[in-house]
Formats: sequence, C-alpha cells, structure tokens
Amino acid sequence: MAVERTLSIIKPDAVEQNHIGEIVAMIEAAGLKVKAMRMTHLSRPQAEGFYYVHKERPFFGELVEFMTRGPVVLMCLEGEGAIAKWREVMGATNPAEAAEGTVRKRFGSNIGENASHGSDATETAAFEVSYFFPGYDL
Ligand code: CMP
Repeated sequence: MAVERTLSIIKPDAVEQNHIGEIVAMIEAAGLKVKAMRMTHLSRPQAEGFYYVHKERPFFGELVEFMTRGPVVLMCLEGEGAIAKWREVMGATNPAEAAEGTVRKRFGSNIGENASHGSDATETAAFEVSYFFPGYDL
C-alpha cells in the first residue's frame, strides 16, 4: 500500500472538552505519523473556503459557525494508506453510527459536532493538506 498524507482536524468541540491528547494518542497508536501540527482559530473565510464543496448544503451555515466557534488542531498525517486509516480511527461521520472505540463514538455529540475531520480521497487530501500547510516542506 502506498504511503499517503491526509489532513486531520480536531474540531472545536473536542478541543473545548480537553481531548487533544487522547486523539493524538489514537493517531499514533494506529501507526500514523504526525508530520505537521498547528493550533489555530479558523476565520469565517478560512472555514468557508475549506468546506466549499458543501456550500450548497442546508447545513453549511451551521458547519461554518461550529468550525469557527473555538480553536482547532490541524495536522498532516502520513503513513501507509493514511487516508483510509485515519477515517477508520475516526469512525462514521455520525457519532451515533460510529463503531465503539472510534474518535467520533468516544468524543462526538452529533453529526454536526463530531470531534474530528479527515480527508476522504487522494485529491481532497492534496487540496486539504496544502490549504492549511501551504509551502511546507513536509
Ligand atoms: P466532516 O468530515 O468535517 O465533513 C463535512 C462535515 O459536515 C461533516 O464532517 C459533518 O460534521 C458535517 N455534516 C454532514 N452532514 C451534516 C448534517 N446533516 N448536519 C450538520 N452537519 C453535517
């Protein structure tokens, strides 16, 4: 399997509830490498640009509101099959449907406030990593 890079976000709900360390520990326990990491408070334009593919969705306003309400932790993860692996560690988008022991099951509240984000494919991973880590020599 190819070595890939993917973007991970620890969302405002998980940061507020002091789960940064536990989530990073889960990432490392899965064998993924944290290649870059930064804590920031997203501006509205940054969140809107990041989620532009969802701009026509009815939940877009709510999503941007949530993602800008407090700090987030941005990470570039690397490893064999990193995109699928991080999604497996996160669990299903809706915490109610996520498997036991996953990030979203443990720390998410509902489909909107679901503790973490991960890129869903090779192309989106390339866009998302460069969106937040432009020009980094990863
Ligand atoms: P994420 O992986 O960050 O990608 C897009 C986000 O939109 C998703 O996680 C959810 O948090 C959010 N989302 C998806 N569907 C809904 C929904 N029906 N209502 C509110 N938020 C949603």
